[in-house]
Amino acid sequence: MAYRIGVIPGDGIGPEVTREALKVLSSVAQICNIKYEITEYPFGGEYYLSHNKVLPDGILDEFKKLSAILLGAIGHPDVPPGVLEKGVLLKIRFGLDQYINLRPVKLYPGIYTPIKNKTPKDIDFVVVRENTECLYSGIGGRLRDEVVIETMIYTRKGIERCIRYAYDLARKRRKRLTLVDKSNVLVYGHGLWQEIFKEVGKEYSDITQDHAHVDAMCMWMIKNPEWFDTVVTCNMFGDIITDLGAIIQGGMGVAPGGNINPEGVSMFEPIHGSAPKHANKGFANPIASILAMAMMLDNLGETKAAEMVENAVSSVCQSGRIKDMSAGKMGVSTSEVGDLVIGYLK
Ligand code: IPM
Ligand code: MN
Repeated sequence: MAYRIGVIPGDGIGPEVTREALKVLSSVAQICNIKYEITEYPFGGEYYLSHNKVLPDGILDEFKKLSAILLGAIGHPDVPPGVLEKGVLLKIRFGLDQYINLRPVKLYPGIYTPIKNKTPKDIDFVVVRENTECLYSGIGGRLRDEVVIETMIYTRKGIERCIRYAYDLARKRRKRLTLVDKSNVLVYGHGLWQEIFKEVGKEYSDITQDHAHVDAMCMWMIKNPEWFDTVVTCNMFGDIITDLGAIIQGGMGVAPGGNINPEGVSMFEPIHGSAPKHANKGFANPIASILAMAMMLDNLGETKAAEMVENAVSSVCQSGRIKDMSAGKMGVSTSEVGDLVIGYLK
């Protein structure tokens, strides 16, 4: 049976990096005999400006019939902040109950990390970011001009399913799980995270249980990234520490992520934004998008194909053909990077 892949190229550099990811998908699918069909959706800034709505009615039900979604980037200079982020990205994450945001922080050989003396063997961990609660719940409001409320909401169900996912993942990796929180101040919310972490942890006595406060985590990620294997944290802190993670793995151009509903439809995306100032120049780095596509293959159960793509990316990085991972400095074009990856598929 053919997979049904929904593709939302989106705004800015989204379409050009997504094109390369799809090019690589087409090659690897041919080699591994994977059948799929693509449905492309035009959502993003332009769609909003011309239709005066962010998404058409009933679209989530349509998405639920897909095998997976690949997203480029969302964000447009002519649309006020929050409209597209909340209306498209968060709408899909919440609407499809993609309660895990999985963000690998992995330094591939040949990629520059700003941390002195750290190599690929030191930087290889994965952040399991809760993806449906916390400060992202959207519950709050504004009274006149003086009072605003922005609430941090957690549920036992939301925390527990995230923590279980993280323990299971740690079991497949190096068996060490670090809970990142601010339980010395957020005694209610993160107190509950602590409680559930320990409670569920009783079922995972083979996993080393570790803890870091989020401020200290920002320090350890730079000083001793090799300490970490699997990290689990709330939505807001996960957002912040994965940008830090992206920079130590070589920059936004290479960091992928997956919004995962283990029982439903998941969505994969580079963690970078639409970077409008780099758009349509043909020099954005598509590696994050290509790796996001590999995560999608893995999630679909196509582990061999996923591994082939990841290995090909790793070989391209190691080859030194890309001078710098930042947009505009690669020394090769966006589409040449896609070609290079295809050249190493085997
Ligand atoms: C990310 C982004 C989003 C987030 C924004 C665009 C809503 O920063 O995917 O990390 O905060 O989750
Ligand atoms: Mn972010």
